[in-house]
Amino acid sequence: MLFLDSSIPAEVEEIFSWGVVSGVTTNPLILSRELGDVDLRTCILEVLAASRGPVSVELLSETQEEMIDEAFEYHEWNPKRICIKIPFSEQGLRVLHQLHEHGVPTNVTATMSFNQMYLAALAGATYVSLFSGRVRDMGYDVGPIIAETRALLDREGLESQIIVGSIRQVMDVNEALQHGAHVVTVPPPILRKMLFNPRTDATIREFNDAWANRGKKD
Ligand code: E4P
Repeated sequence: MLFLDSSIPAEVEEIFSWGVVSGVTTNPLILSRELGDVDLRTCILEVLAASRGPVSVELLSETQEEMIDEAFEYHEWNPKRICIKIPFSEQGLRVLHQLHEHGVPTNVTATMSFNQMYLAALAGATYVSLFSGRVRDMGYDVGPIIAETRALLDREGLESQIIVGSIRQVMDVNEALQHGAHVVTVPPPILRKMLFNPRTDATIREFNDAWANRGKKD
C-alpha cells in the first residue's frame, strides 16, 4: 500500500482522487515547513476530510504523562482514523504499551534498525516506521533491514505493519515494496514522478497522431 507523506489538505485531496493512496502520515517538520504557524487540530481535521484511512499525528510533548494526555486528545479528533505517531525511545515504548492496552492505533516513528522495529512490534505498535533516506544517510543499506524485519514479524505472528518513510526517490519506493514493506509513505513530488515514463508518452502520442491522420495518404 501507499500512504501520502504530506500535510497540505488541498494536495492530499488532489492525490486521493487518483485512487492509489490509503492513508496519510504527517510530522512536525512537514507541518511547520509546509504550513508555517498552523493550528494543528484545524489542519488535521482538514487532512481527515480530504482523505480516507489512517492519518498519523505525531506526539510533541516529552514526558510520559504529557504524551499520554496528548495522545488521547488527538485520538478524540477521530477515534477510527487517527493513528498516534510515537517517537521511538524507551519512554516511547512505555507510552506505546499503554496506548496499545487502550486499543489506540499507533505508528512508532523514527526507527532506523531491525532491533528497534522488533521492540516496537513486541510492544504492540500498529505500524512501525523505518526512515529509509536517513538510514542511507548514515551509510547503511535499507533493503536487508526491511526484508529481515518483515520475515521476523511474519515468523512470530506479530501484527505490526512496516511503513517505510523518508523517501527521497522513486527507487526507494520500489526497493521498499520489493523487500516486503507493508506500506510506503510517499511525498507528493515522488508520487508524481512515479507517473512518468517517456516511452508511455511517446506511445500515446503515436497512437493519437495515427488516429488524427487516419485516411490520409503519406
Ligand atoms: C514518515 O512518517 C516521516 O514523516 C517522513 O517520511 C520523514 O522523512 P524525512 O527523512 O524526509 O524527514
